[in-house]
Amino acid sequence: MATHPRTFRIGGELEINRLGFGAMRITGKGIWGPPADREGALATLRRLPELGIDFIDTANSYGPEISEELIKEALFPYTKVVVATKGGLERPGPDSWVPNGNPSHLVSEAHASRERLGVDQIALWQLHRIDAKVPRDEQFDAVKLLLDDSVIAHAGLSEVSVADIEAARRVFPVATVQNRYNFADRGSEDVLNYCEAHGIGFIPWFPLAAGELTRAGSALDAIAKAHGATPGQIAVAWLLQRSPVIIPIPGTSKVAHLEENVKAGDIELTQAEFDQLDEAGLER
Ligand SMILES: NC(=O)c1ccc[n+]([C@@H]2O[C@H](COP(=O)([O-])OP(=O)(O)OC[C@H]3O[C@@H](n4cnc5c(N)ncnc54)[C@H](OP(=O)(O)O)[C@@H]3O)[C@@H](O)[C@H]2O)c1
Repeated sequence: MATHPRTFRIGGELEINRLGFGAMRITGKGIWGPPADREGALATLRRLPELGIDFIDTANSYGPEISEELIKEALFPYTKVVVATKGGLERPGPDSWVPNGNPSHLVSEAHASRERLGVDQIALWQLHRIDAKVPRDEQFDAVKLLLDDSVIAHAGLSEVSVADIEAARRVFPVATVQNRYNFADRGSEDVLNYCEAHGIGFIPWFPLAAGELTRAGSALDAIAKAHGATPGQIAVAWLLQRSPVIIPIPGTSKVAHLEENVKAGDIELTQAEFDQLDEAGLER
């Protein structure tokens, strides 16, 4: 049984299990339109609470709107799960993501997500991107307004630097940060360390490098063999052990993959195994 903390308190109060779920992959190809296997996507979502996963990450732009709609269809009224969403990226077409940090747009998008999810208040709303075309403080003011109006309970950022987080914290309490990160992709190490020092949840997106880390052929293989586990499970176990503020959200559209991924929560790496992966990742 793993000894790392199993839970994290978002904003110091909203307790969730640290191994969450990313709901971007329950949409169509290019994160566009409905999923090819709609029933499979709904079954994957319904399996989450049964497996003890109580934190789902989505965004208004996944589909767009499709991911939020499917989550509501599968899990409303959310007795056992917390749904976090995001706004601030527009979707003109498949695989196309365009930041829109216009403050009134951010506010109206958060209201629309709240309605689509069917909640009185969004538990955690994240600014998907800081839009370089708009002064960042104007975007942070919009987030503060959403908090003040109780449209959202907690607020987070995504793909940000330490300087961005510090600037945002002057305007509102930053509960979480979501940056790309996994054992082999360590560009956000400084941001993670900052989050750990300040009790901010760090949600690493790309925890499996979009599936690449689930395949054989990396530094994960030997350690996976020693644990009777898969490489993907070891990649997630490493994240859970890396920092108590990390909330991994591996995403999948398949029940079998979800069931495989959740078992990562029970794997405890030895210090030597952890260090070996740490070094292998830093060398890449
Ligand atoms: N903030 C941001 O800018 C941002 C950007 C991207 C993603 N995200 C969030 O982060 C979450 C995770 O990121 P991600 O989806 O890009 O990457 P990921 O979780 O690293 O990888 C997901 C991919 O891995 C495959 N996969 C998952 N489990 C597997 C398993 N056990 N065996 C084999 N393949 C498996 C999935 O395919 P199958 O469906 O076939 O299982 C899917 O294509 C997203 O869902 C989203 O919520 C945030």
